[in-house]
Amino acid sequence: MPLVSTRQLLDEAAKGGYGVGAFNVNDMEQIQAIMEAAKETNSPVIIQASRGARAFAQDNYLFHLILAANELYPEIPIAMHLDHGNSFETCKSAIELGYSSVMMDGSLKADGKTPATFEENVAVTKQVVDFAHARGVAVEGEIGVLGGIEDGHGAGGSGLDHVTDPDQAVEFAELTGVDSLAIAIGTSHGAYKFTKKPDGSVLKMDLLIAIHKRLPKTHLVMHGSSSVPKDLQDIINQYGGKLKETWGVPVEEIQLGIRNGVRKVNVDTDNRLAITGAIRKVLWETPEKFDPRDYMKPARAAMQKVVAQRMTQFGQAGHAGDYKAISIADMAKGYKDGSLSTKPLVAAR
Ligand code: 13P
Repeated sequence: MPLVSTRQLLDEAAKGGYGVGAFNVNDMEQIQAIMEAAKETNSPVIIQASRGARAFAQDNYLFHLILAANELYPEIPIAMHLDHGNSFETCKSAIELGYSSVMMDGSLKADGKTPATFEENVAVTKQVVDFAHARGVAVEGEIGVLGGIEDGHGAGGSGLDHVTDPDQAVEFAELTGVDSLAIAIGTSHGAYKFTKKPDGSVLKMDLLIAIHKRLPKTHLVMHGSSSVPKDLQDIINQYGGKLKETWGVPVEEIQLGIRNGVRKVNVDTDNRLAITGAIRKVLWETPEKFDPRDYMKPARAAMQKVVAQRMTQFGQAGHAGDYKAISIADMAKGYKDGSLSTKPLVAAR
């Protein structure tokens, strides 16, 4: 099966009423964990790499690992997505490498830190959409600014600093023609999202629902969606770690989002926690060990467990065989002839 566009994956998810986890990777073991979880649960897959991941692993290593996954699991639709592209050039380089999907995060300037103006965001996102769609590649945009920092990318601060304005979301979707839209509703990247179990004062699910009402056909994306489970925090701290008490996004809130237009759910931190906890445990209990496989195997298994759980909770489990992948070349034809129109359906207020 060729690499699939996130547009096709998310269109199918919308038809089926489920969400698709988008899991970040930096190395082979993380890709293996995701693919085994996908096989275990019969799930379609979005694998995503940030600029930091591309720099860490080098583009060619990372991309060829994805191609290996594609060869080894021909029955599973896989989209390879660029997470938080900071500029046209970054997105172009991913597209030219063969990514089937890119995020242009124009909510920040190219430095990946300073919030951009609405006009700047529209201009750079539209530029990426035109380039990507001509090549059959899907584009995710972002309106509003996420909190926190991930892999050096982010404005920092609280997730409530720049939440999405529904009117701007509509205008942005209309002006850019993005295939999916990341919105800011109080979440942030990383482990430290909330200081207690979040309620509506800090996690704005009402805002998400309002945006979905205005853009009922637009695939919404929830970033910063790790749940930061207490048991994963505890394992790290039990074996010498020093995590401060923290809360993530409860899975029930993500499921509420999925019932209201969320189709792509970004998860990175939970997998990082699972890996680190498993490695700490081995090294703490058996300090004489030095073969990396002794701790990488349990680390990979711990990540697989988290990913399989999320795939089931988001509803994508069981859906890998629902459809045949449309090639990126055929997606390009669809954008050209209008059958993959990205003109959003906007509901009256
Ligand atoms: P978490 O840090 O909550 O896993 O978010 C990851 C993310 O949104 C990647 O873009």
